[in-house]
Order: sequence, then C-alpha cells, then structure tokens
Amino acid sequence: MTSGQEGQNENMQETRATGSQAPSDAHFSGPLDSIHAYGTTNDEQLPDKLPQNPFPTLNEWVEFAKRERVQPNPTAIALATATDKLPNVRVVLCRGIDIDAGAIWFFTNGQSAKGNDMAANPHAAAVFHWDALDRQARVRGIVEPLPAAESDAYFASRSWEKRVGAWASDQSRPIESRQALVDKLTTTLERFGIDPKNPPPHGADLDIPRPPHWGGFRIVATEVELWVGSPARIHDRARWTRSSQNDPWYATRLQP
Ligand SMILES: Cc1cc2nc3c(=O)[nH]c(=O)nc-3n(C[C@H](O)[C@H](O)[C@H](O)COP(=O)(O)O)c2cc1C
Repeated sequence: MTSGQEGQNENMQETRATGSQAPSDAHFSGPLDSIHAYGTTNDEQLPDKLPQNPFPTLNEWVEFAKRERVQPNPTAIALATATDKLPNVRVVLCRGIDIDAGAIWFFTNGQSAKGNDMAANPHAAAVFHWDALDRQARVRGIVEPLPAAESDAYFASRSWEKRVGAWASDQSRPIESRQALVDKLTTTLERFGIDPKNPPPHGADLDIPRPPHWGGFRIVATEVELWVGSPARIHDRARWTRSSQNDPWYATRLQP
C-alpha cells in the first residue's frame, strides 16, 4: 500500500445485486431512524419467518450502512484464516457481494500471510460489524481466487499510487527499517518511469500493470449469521447453512 492503510473511507466497489429482491429494509421491524447514536433503543428484529436465502439481506445491510454513512469503512470485514491450530485475523475491505452465488470478495497480496494461509487451507471466515446499527454479519466458506480479468479490471480502477504500492510492498514480509521501505518505494517509482521528486498528479493515467501475486479472492459462503442487538440484551440471531454453493440454504434461529 502506498500511503498508510488502504481504503480509508472507501465504499465497496461493486455489488452484484442480481437477485430478484430489491434492496430495502422492509423485512425488518423496528425504528431504523433511531440508529445513529450508539446505545440507542434499537428494537429491530429479524423477521419471524426467516428468509430462505440470507444474501439479499446481507446485501441490504451493507448497502444501508454505506448509504447511512454509519462508520468510515462500512465494508470493512475482519477476515480470519487458519492453517493450523492458531487462526489469524485482520481487517480488509469487502469489495463486492454476489447475491446469486452467495459470495463476498476482497483484494489482497496473494503472497501475504493471509494469501499463504488461503493457499494452504482455502477456507475463511469474515465478520462485518456496524456498531451504530447494532448489527453484525458473519460469513464462513470456501475461498477461491477471482478470475484474472476481474482482478485486472479492479486493479486498473485503482489510483496510480496504490498500483505502485502493490508492487513496492511484499506484504507481510519483514523489512529492516521504515527507510528501507521508502527506498523500495523510490526504486519502484523509478522502475515505472516516475520521478519520486516530481510525481505526476493524483489521478494521472499511468500504465502500471497488476502484479501477478496481487488479486481478488471470494468467499463462497456455506454459513451466514445475521445478528441484531437488542437493548434488553436478548439479541436476535439467525444462521443459514448449506453444504455447497449448489445446495439450498437451511435457516435456523439461534439463542443469543
Ligand atoms: C480499514 C482497513 C482496511 C484494509 N483493507 C485491506 C484490504 O482490502 N486488503 C489488504 O490486503 N489489506 C487491507 N488492510 C490491511 C490488513 O489489515 C493487513 O494489515 C494486511 O493485509 C496484511 O495482513 P496479513 O499479514 O495477515 O496478510 C486494511 C486495514 C485496515 C485497517
């Protein structure tokens, strides 16, 4: 990443809302106009009859959080991976939801710690948390790389600074000092014909290809949980499971 952390205040790039249900919060009871402050009396509940498929609702929740600007990164997910007994977790930005496939996706360096984990064990878990909405959504499933063309298209949409950064940072690998990292960035800028002392303006259209090790990954969900908080602490939870992408979802309510 070029300048600090990636993605501050960025909204999700794309949503494949190709399902038949139009986004709305009509499925839910409760005063959604009281959500803007922490600790409000949000008595929203999941519907008595749970939807057959959780993904339209998950997509509605993400879109609602983005629209209502409830937090700087409404598409942030904590992404957990594991290769052995000790799981690892970090924040990435969910860049899209495929309602039809029941998948979410994100972009990263495939040679990072998470990339190595996912190569060794293609399973992951992710959680969205919208504190001001008193909502949490969990996703578990199987990890697949996105098609190269989709990673190319997304990479090309990024600023030139971020594209250079993807080349400059061997994400998750040690480096001896901050200065060594700055030197590495300088060398990378020069490699792409950019004068570090006189860089082009932000938004300049530079030809910087996608590194082969950088790209998208999607989690094809086999489990989704939606959670809404209740002031009485009797939170409402429901879990959907399916054996594979081709199987139907099975929905069940859980005790909080
Ligand atoms: C708000 C936020 C968004 C982030 N988004 C991404 C992202 O989309 N992709 C990514 O690779 N890292 C992202 N990061 C950095 C990761 O949290 C993490 O530091 C990095 O990916 C290295 O993780 P790893 O060593 O476990 O592979 C983000 C960090 C924050 C705080």
